[in-house]
Amino acid sequence: MQQKWDHYIGGAFVPPKQGGYIDETDPRTGAKTFSIARGTREDVDAAVAGSKRAWADWRDLRPIQRGRVLAKIAQKMAEHRDALADIDVRETGRPRKNALIDIDGGAAYFEYYAGLVNVGHGEVIDLGAAYHSYARREPYGVTAIILPWNGPINQAGRGIAPALAAGNAVVSKPSEFTSVTLLELARICVEECGLPAGILNVVTGTGPEVGAALTAHPDIRKIGFTGSVRTGKAIGAVAAERIVPVGLELGGKSPNIIFEDADLDIAIPGAIVGIGFNGGQACSAGTRLLVHEALHDKVVERLKEEIDRIKVGSSDEAMYGPIITRPQYEKVQAYLETAESEGAVSVVGGQRIAADGEEEGFYVMPTLLTNVTNQMRVAREEIFGPVLSIITFKDEDEAVQIANDSDYGLVAGMWTRDLSRAHRVAAQLEAGQVMVNQYFAGGVENPFGGYKQSGLGREKGLEALHHYTQVKSVTVKL
Ligand code: NAI
Ligand code: MG
Repeated sequence: MQQKWDHYIGGAFVPPKQGGYIDETDPRTGAKTFSIARGTREDVDAAVAGSKRAWADWRDLRPIQRGRVLAKIAQKMAEHRDALADIDVRETGRPRKNALIDIDGGAAYFEYYAGLVNVGHGEVIDLGAAYHSYARREPYGVTAIILPWNGPINQAGRGIAPALAAGNAVVSKPSEFTSVTLLELARICVEECGLPAGILNVVTGTGPEVGAALTAHPDIRKIGFTGSVRTGKAIGAVAAERIVPVGLELGGKSPNIIFEDADLDIAIPGAIVGIGFNGGQACSAGTRLLVHEALHDKVVERLKEEIDRIKVGSSDEAMYGPIITRPQYEKVQAYLETAESEGAVSVVGGQRIAADGEEEGFYVMPTLLTNVTNQMRVAREEIFGPVLSIITFKDEDEAVQIANDSDYGLVAGMWTRDLSRAHRVAAQLEAGQVMVNQYFAGGVENPFGGYKQSGLGREKGLEALHHYTQVKSVTVKL
């Protein structure tokens, strides 16, 4: 497999103008894996200028022609899924089955938006017989899409597919920990799917060097960001200064509520998926398990049994792989110490484990914390690891109050057999998506985004198309 990767700009791999490279680390072993170009402002300038030149032809295509390219991308991603998964596994360390889920998820966005290129053009506005008036939806131009490491291709598809469908060009910056899958995807798009060169450029490197240069660039007309609240605020400030529209997909501290009438045979595995998917390295992880007090002991007992059966490692028997980097791993460990000092009790997990031959890997067992109150740091701050805090409640009102007592509002889960309660509580929860009787319910078709500090704007679904277009009103006096 190719070790050294340059930027992908204008349909070709282009070395960094300043000549530097950064190493990625295999989280299974701590060993160096790929090296990627360390971009600077000069590389960003070249990428944005190239996209700007290429953009008008893409914008002016008949939408069905853009749709055909997107459909081809989805098809080629399916053909290349094994090769893309090979790369992903070396970058994220996760079990191969989970890498394939990420890639198939990314492809689904191209498939979905391919079919939507003719939806939502605009409307005709009746001003009486003396006028013909209409509103057009137009793309912004060159958009910046800045991505995190936890679902590299899924999140890339989520941003790039609707941006392209609406007729924008994209310059994307993947995470410096997981850049290679997107470089390879960009190559596939241009070389094998007929995406015009320059319509998807990828510049790799660090946030302060490449990300900041991209968001500040005067020819970037729209920003889509997925990542931490801290970086989201910094990007939001730049967007405010420049008056550029920005979409922010940030973190979460999502409640998962088990009501007293829940079917525990589905709620317990659901709670495990909510915290165990990707080792808790998911913005929508269900990290606060709100349990009716009458069920507390039974729920803890059953969760322990399930957790005892979970394997962690990089083989396909494992539920999830390592934490992405040493600093992130140390952050998770620090939160476990914080939990203890705050009075939470770790009933299972907490320790680092080593998988065979991977003694240096950043593995953490699923951890169950009881005696947690919603005021503790472990209940308020995003840990981004497999740490589940159990908080009890007395009744429905208190469950809603605790669920909403958070700076975040990304998703919320609930388990109940009472249909009225499900809809009543769903309406009261401060979260961008609510999932009843299945954790991680919903698909590419569902609008996705955060309330409160979890973000701004919506991705996925028809909503995303609106976010990647601006409206122009045209009125003709007849
Ligand atoms: P991060 O915020 O550190 O980095 C995200 C991206 O921003 C990276 O590509 C980074 O290089 C870039 N960046 C950093 N500083 C920048 C700057 N000043 N200007 C422009 N770009 C900059 O996030 P990380 O650590 O990669 O991902 C973990 C975080 O992302 C978690 O907090 C998680 O909750 C959040 N996340 C949210 C998702 C959502 O859909 N709401 C999905 C996945 C992750
Ligand atoms: Mg970070």
